[in-house]
Amino acid sequence: MSTTSTISKKPGISDPEQASENYAKKKKMTVPAFRARKGGAPLVCLTAYTAHVARLVDEHADMILVGDSLGMVIHGMPNTLGVTMEHMIMHGQAVMRGAEKALVVVDMPFGSFEESPEVAFRNASRMIKETNCTAIKLEGGREMAKTITYLSTRGIPVVAHIGLMPQQMNTAGGFKAVRAKDQFEAVIADAKAVEAAGAFAVVVEGVAVRLANEVTKAVDIPTIGIGASVECDGQILVFEDMIGLFPRVPTFVKRYGNMEDMMRDGIARYANEVRDRSFPADEHTYKAKESG
Ligand code: KIV
Repeated sequence: MSTTSTISKKPGISDPEQASENYAKKKKMTVPAFRARKGGAPLVCLTAYTAHVARLVDEHADMILVGDSLGMVIHGMPNTLGVTMEHMIMHGQAVMRGAEKALVVVDMPFGSFEESPEVAFRNASRMIKETNCTAIKLEGGREMAKTITYLSTRGIPVVAHIGLMPQQMNTAGGFKAVRAKDQFEAVIADAKAVEAAGAFAVVVEGVAVRLANEVTKAVDIPTIGIGASVECDGQILVFEDMIGLFPRVPTFVKRYGNMEDMMRDGIARYANEVRDRSFPADEHTYKAKESG
């Protein structure tokens, strides 16, 4: 945990090896256990879209989010608006094949939940039936409260998503962080509304440090920050951003690897070795046998 936060201090684990060892002993994360981490050791959340990445993330994360950011980082879309239920289900199924302990949450794509609580229930229950994920995430605050209640009282655990909402980019005029003080009250009201409606956690994206602190203090459910400072109860990043596999890096992303450079290097070496016939070498070949 950063020592630069002047607003609040929460317990953390400073030794990553110890943290991983502790995590290895843990049972599968459930919705009540996740919710109960409010104000406790920071919740580790990451996105994953494929089975193998989910397997790697599962070793350390409390929650794996199959985010609709997959439209941009996997499918090359300019934003998340073109993502469909079919995209989310296919990647949700892949992640569920790799995850064992982490709570798997799948995003509801744009257009699949806004129309009415009934439409949201139809699509969210399909998501759970077809992927076997534990919970869904949807973007929206007060305007989604009725829908969150409808889902969460019918067996569908909900993570809400407030602050900067990428699915609202056209009305907001782009991906705009919430920094103006006169916007704070609305975001705090959204946080309180989604909690009262039954969300068990809330993603808080792209907000000023002070607002993240106020939102986290305002609710008794965990706040999961992305671009929202250390003031939240947990953090989430998009895997490809975090590992250096996506060219555009927002300010709030810290790169913990440079996979793009490693991949470029590997591809270039492979191409050279194919061209100069040094690959495949003897050890990469099958030898003939006398009989089958
Ligand atoms: O789609 C996504 O990956 C998300 C995270 C950025 C929270 O919603």
